Amino acid sequence: ETVTWEADAAEKGGYEHYMRKEIHEQPTALRQTLAGRLDVDAGDVDLDVSFPPGFLADLEEIRIVACGTSYYAGRYAAQLFEDLAGVRATVEIASEYEFGAGRTPDRTLVVAVTQSGETADTLGAIRRANAAGARTFAVTNTLGSTVTREVDGTAFIRAGPEIGVAATKTFASQVATLAMLGVAIGRDRGALAAADARSVLEDLQGLPGAVQQVLDEEQRVREAAREFQDSEAFFFVGRSLGVPVALEGALKLKEISYDHAEGFAAGELKHGPLALVTPETPVIAVLTDGARADETMNNVTEAQTRGAPALGCVSAGDEYDTLDASFDVPDVGVVEPLVANVYLQLFAYHVANEKGRPIDKPRNLAKSVTVE
Ligand code: G6P
Repeated sequence: ETVTWEADAAEKGGYEHYMRKEIHEQPTALRQTLAGRLDVDAGDVDLDVSFPPGFLADLEEIRIVACGTSYYAGRYAAQLFEDLAGVRATVEIASEYEFGAGRTPDRTLVVAVTQSGETADTLGAIRRANAAGARTFAVTNTLGSTVTREVDGTAFIRAGPEIGVAATKTFASQVATLAMLGVAIGRDRGALAAADARSVLEDLQGLPGAVQQVLDEEQRVREAAREFQDSEAFFFVGRSLGVPVALEGALKLKEISYDHAEGFAAGELKHGPLALVTPETPVIAVLTDGARADETMNNVTEAQTRGAPALGCVSAGDEYDTLDASFDVPDVGVVEPLVANVYLQLFAYHVANEKGRPIDKPRNLAKSVTVE
């Protein structure tokens, strides 16, 4: 019906799909996420969260629970937490989470990462954590969502509404919010020096501009998508902070293009996946700071030797001559892999778009899954 169609087109602000609109909204979403929360001079953040006296000092573990894209944001954050908060940080798929024996509930913070705040698996994990007596916390996009009523504290990611089923801008805002949470906890515990905190906050400040620079390269990503769209399968690899980004890149591509895509820790390629590598299976690598680029490139070369084309997201200034296509990532330290992820979002979008897939509503998937 015409009226609905026009309303829908207006909502998309001139974009053909919500997903592409939301990919392009990331600089704005990230500015909202960070607004008023960074005190760079003091090397601290104001997230408006509080914990009982002494809780953070005695903290033994931060346990992140989440599903889908939020789980990959959690994996990124867990690595940051170990450095920033000076505490063991683990992450578990929410549907698998149990409060295991040998852990101390009153010294554990269980953090649910959930865009919608309504995912049944994640709510189930929080209920098990509450029942075990752990302190619980939510990082969510949705004011008044169910999760916010079941946890002891909440930080909102403030990314704005996300309509496309495939999560994009909320992933970036989740990681940014979790990074701030890590700084807040680390500073409170005395585990993080002001100077080290300041450097992370400066990286975060640079994030919206860095993402914009990647968005400005969209045409080149589109060309790469056209060149490789008919491949048999796609392998995404990275190390360290590049691993969750590789996993998320593969998830995005399979969700919306229906192509076979898998993400690996680059070092694992030789322990199995290399058997699948042919000239028909491009390898897409995160080759930035924070992702052990040189070692990752060694693994990419192993795949190239078997004929695989290789694409890389590379720190600006670095160069790997043998790549079939190379995409520059601005220098923003610990969030460089997060910026590289924007290339992977655009790649997934354009592969799916070339194939005419229903990008905003992929078959069999829902934005929010309220059954376990
Ligand atoms: C569904 C969506 C995914 C999302 C996941 C977790 O599977 O299709 O895009 O990542 O749920 O959602 P949440 O709202 O908990 O972040």
